[in-house]
Amino acid sequence: MSSTALKTIYLKEYTQPPFVIDRVKLHFELGEEQTVVTTTMTMRRDGGGDGALRLDGRHLQLLLVKLDGRVLMAKQYEVDEESLTIPMVPDSFVLEIQTLIKPQENTSLDGLYKSSGNFCTQCEAQGFRKITYYLDRPDVMTLFTTTIVADKAKYPVLLSNGNLVAQSELGDGRHSATWQDPFKKPCYLFALVAGQLEFVEDSFTTMSGRQVALRIYVERHNLDKCDHAMQSLKRAMRWDEQVYGREYDLDIYMIVAVDDFNMGAMENKGLNVFNSKYVLARPDTATDADFIGIESVIAHEYFHNWSGNRVTCRDWFQLSLKEGFTVFRDQEFTSDLFSRAVKRIDDVNRLRSYQFAEDGGPMSHPVRPESYVEINNFYTLTVYEKGAEVVRMISHLVGAAGFRKGSDLYFERHDGQAVTTEDFVQAMEDANGIDLTQFKRWYGQSGTPRLDCSSAYDAAAQRLTLTIRQSCPPTPGQATKLPFHIPVEIGLLAPDGADCPLQLAGEAAAMGTSRVLECKDEVQSFQFINIAHPPVPSLLRQFSAPVKLNYPYSSEELAFLMAHDSDPFNRWNANQQLALLLLHGLIEQKINGGTFDLQALGNGYSLYSEAFGQILAEQGGDLNLKAMAMALPTENYIAETLAVVDPIAIHEARWLLRGALSRDHEALLCENYENHLEQGRYNVKPESVGRRAVKNTALGLLASHDGSGIIELCYSQFNSADNMTDVMMALRCLTDIQCDERQQALAQFYDKWQGEPLIVDKWLALQAMSRLPTTLADIKTLMNHPAFNIKNPNKVRALISSFVNGNAYRFHSAEGYTFLADQIVILDRLNPQVAARLAAPLIQWRRYDEARQLLMCAELKRILALPTLSSDVREVVSKGLA
Ligand code: TRP
Ligand code: ZN
Repeated sequence: MSSTALKTIYLKEYTQPPFVIDRVKLHFELGEEQTVVTTTMTMRRDGGGDGALRLDGRHLQLLLVKLDGRVLMAKQYEVDEESLTIPMVPDSFVLEIQTLIKPQENTSLDGLYKSSGNFCTQCEAQGFRKITYYLDRPDVMTLFTTTIVADKAKYPVLLSNGNLVAQSELGDGRHSATWQDPFKKPCYLFALVAGQLEFVEDSFTTMSGRQVALRIYVERHNLDKCDHAMQSLKRAMRWDEQVYGREYDLDIYMIVAVDDFNMGAMENKGLNVFNSKYVLARPDTATDADFIGIESVIAHEYFHNWSGNRVTCRDWFQLSLKEGFTVFRDQEFTSDLFSRAVKRIDDVNRLRSYQFAEDGGPMSHPVRPESYVEINNFYTLTVYEKGAEVVRMISHLVGAAGFRKGSDLYFERHDGQAVTTEDFVQAMEDANGIDLTQFKRWYGQSGTPRLDCSSAYDAAAQRLTLTIRQSCPPTPGQATKLPFHIPVEIGLLAPDGADCPLQLAGEAAAMGTSRVLECKDEVQSFQFINIAHPPVPSLLRQFSAPVKLNYPYSSEELAFLMAHDSDPFNRWNANQQLALLLLHGLIEQKINGGTFDLQALGNGYSLYSEAFGQILAEQGGDLNLKAMAMALPTENYIAETLAVVDPIAIHEARWLLRGALSRDHEALLCENYENHLEQGRYNVKPESVGRRAVKNTALGLLASHDGSGIIELCYSQFNSADNMTDVMMALRCLTDIQCDERQQALAQFYDKWQGEPLIVDKWLALQAMSRLPTTLADIKTLMNHPAFNIKNPNKVRALISSFVNGNAYRFHSAEGYTFLADQIVILDRLNPQVAARLAAPLIQWRRYDEARQLLMCAELKRILALPTLSSDVREVVSKGLA
């Protein structure tokens, strides 16, 4: 799209496809200058009608159209920017179409493109229409047969979905391969890969005893970095059998790693294409977080084989049907294999730090959106992460066994179909005999609900009344909302810290010590009886709903919950809330023109500091949880809790609090550092990851005040560590300190790893996240460094996204805003999907003070005034200004 008009697509305008495709045969002649695609479709009219056949297609050069073997003349069809229309077709027919494309010039990384000299595809959501004219919509499912012809020396490996059914040498240096996929699928799951790749192979025996070949294709020099991905895949396959009863359905499962990729990975049937970031790992090249990320993305794509491929989406408004459900599945997988509490904290951190901002901003949309301009703009935290929270709430309401009954029914009822989120909920209702009518508002209403809670204790009646009032702020297109059905898990802590048995008024006896309260009305009260002493309520245990909860806790009550709550998530959350009280106080001091004064905040600091000391002194237990308890709220989450965001005050307040804790607990921090040094060979079991997390969190805290020897300690860890986790933490600390060792370590690191793109990304990201005042100038210099390449999304994310999303302190300035807008403009020509994502921080302008608002809006207006702009960026920026 070039100029101004944006076409909005509406859910309410959905109609069934007027044609069916029974089979499609694709023939690719891959070349250096041009690629010719011949598509042969066996089609039939569906549901009567005699309308024209309109096929989607973008940037295609049409070479030939044949209807039932006869070449059509130009006047027998119409072609425009977006489509090919044949006004007159019979009720059933064979259509052959030949198109010419230039994958080598495709920088959007959508459709057929080249990465490191190899051909690969990305068809979700609408990339297939950049390959050939087609009914490019997920409810058109068909059987694919794909033949690939290419030069054998340059492209020895030729892959597509399904099973390899034929191979031949063409005698002229070219060869060909034909793949057949026995499962019907929508075209967004189509994939083709051709190139110089090698593979590691393993096998998996399914629960019914079938052998499946597992292959991971990479460039030769990466063959030694695939082991973790392969083990992860096998664990995911076993877990899906054990937990969901789902078995893999083809004889081969292939994963291909590519360096140029817009997102994390893609679940193409039998042939996943992955960003190499989510495949390649060796202890010396990848951090613990990388290892865990790989395991979860491998699992996510594998799980899509059922939640997405066997049962797919009717239309793109239903995206969360597959994404919300699959994220929930991968979260549960990681919880089972790693640590449930730690995984929950990680996920809630992401939700509160980023999804809440999206939900409260100008692009706010429901989990199932009602309209979109560019579907690529709706692969969001809301559709993925909030969508997973919605599925999690259902599982909370029906319990694990009920959820399994529901998912069994869903897969059985809809196997081979393209369905809606309604169908998913219906299966859960039918399998459990419950009514989720009100609950479904979670799919249609946007915005983060707010819960205002209060409690009243009646000593004479030994009764606690808990009152919960829900509300939801207005969001674009939704001025008012109806009440949500919210599961609120709670407990009550007696003065000795034990959980009280819970008995609601009217119940014959107490049942359990943790309960899910179902809130359905605007205001609801719950009366707990036989409560002998005034309790402290523990609310929203496990973060049982994606809401903002308010309760007037005192610092003492939060410290009490931190020490005693039996729910590990809420123990951690009480810690965060106590820290937030302090941070709010500090930020206020700063904004009121004063200087920071912790002592002026009453006993808050001494309470927090004492609790912090107890955490440090704790022995045993889950070390990953301990490391999380040692971390202050993220800057983004702090911002989320403020009416007007002052990123400088937030950073400085947080830094001051870190420094104070670090000084006051120096000895204990050193002890924690020493006591958790590496033991034996590196591995990524939770226990070892936890040791490193505690050690490195201690190091980070020590480095936040200029205690003696800290630079030497970091530099020595940097030089002696045998694993990337320890190297990165040491380098991260140094990157925040202006010293010779900083320059030295950065230079050494680049020197050693310049041949490894994923490690160069880490090097770029660290420098972009530095709190030093030279950061933006350094980034501008790095943009011209041979290590940077604006066409590669990983590089853009490392240098630009890390800065604008992860370094508010240095980004929020006139120069920062101009820099970002400049990059969006450059990227818009190359890769609109990546460009549009970069605009996220700018469209949040309403959250800042007036001076910043003006500066940010000016940059948005500058972008919008450009004569040509992709629909991706135009949608985000124009909604951002609306
Ligand atoms: N379906 C993919 C996933 O979540 C998402 C994805 C991969 C994607 N590449 C994309 C979405 C490109 C839009 C554009 O697993
Ligand atoms: Zn997905």
